[in-house]
Amino acid sequence: MAEKELLGSIELNRIYQRDCIEGMRMLPNESVDLIIADPPYNIGAKGNHIKSEEKRFSAIKEEWDTIDNFEEFNLKWLTECHRILRNGGSLLVWGSRHNIYLCGYQIDSLGLQIKTHYTWYKTNSMPCLTGRNPSESTEQLIWATKGSNWTYDLEYAKSINGGKNIRNVFMTTQTPQSEKKAGKHPSQKRGEGLTDMLIRLHSRENDIVVVPFCGSGTECVEAVRASRNFIAFETEPSYIEIANKRLDIAHSEEEAE
Ligand SMILES: C[S@@+](CC[C@H](N)C(=O)[O-])C[C@H]1O[C@@H](n2cnc3c(N)ncnc32)[C@H](O)[C@@H]1O
Repeated sequence: MAEKELLGSIELNRIYQRDCIEGMRMLPNESVDLIIADPPYNIGAKGNHIKSEEKRFSAIKEEWDTIDNFEEFNLKWLTECHRILRNGGSLLVWGSRHNIYLCGYQIDSLGLQIKTHYTWYKTNSMPCLTGRNPSESTEQLIWATKGSNWTYDLEYAKSINGGKNIRNVFMTTQTPQSEKKAGKHPSQKRGEGLTDMLIRLHSRENDIVVVPFCGSGTECVEAVRASRNFIAFETEPSYIEIANKRLDIAHSEEEAE
């Protein structure tokens, strides 16, 4: 049997059922190339949850997305990200108006350099049925770096945009059903045309990508497809089951090629 590759005491290419703050504490300083975090946005918190008129359009209201000490929680996991990121490494953090300003402030305070924020414009997002707000149709992604030698694969950027550098906007439909065959997660990110591109833009082959909030494993699957290593943490076992099923599919596709 092939020997397992380790980073500190953590195995590469494995999802750990563990709080990501504890998990990342087990990784050495300055040891990883890219961190792609899709954290709780705290939409479930009191005051943040938008009521819609139709139940089928109700916003995410999961226990894991309802955090009382949100500032402290974010600062803890972002501090670990800052510590484990190598010089030249990148941190990508997803968010909406509920968390992105706070995370941006904390990332900046920790001394990482915010290079840009990407916008994901979801062309088929649900309408605002109350008519009291515009229909939410974007999510934001902060790209921050450590040191000056960051990875941005311009050749790849050109290859996905007709020979020109990309703009900092991704315009796609929401996560398609075809990516949900292994089971459903309430906030599964899109793989094709979004996560796959972000990983290829901000890391190189064989790099180590840390996924603190694994959910159904989109970032892990796309890391495998792009020949990167991953380390992932997730607290909810049923989501890990979905993610592992998706990884099995990705590995079997790789073998078939
Ligand atoms: C926004 S979802 C990530 C979805 C993922 N990008 C996908 O495509 O499936 C956030 C996930 O973080 C998990 N989570 C929440 N707090 C956590 C923590 N402290 N450590 C690890 N995972 C956590 C939740 O169970 C949830 O599945």
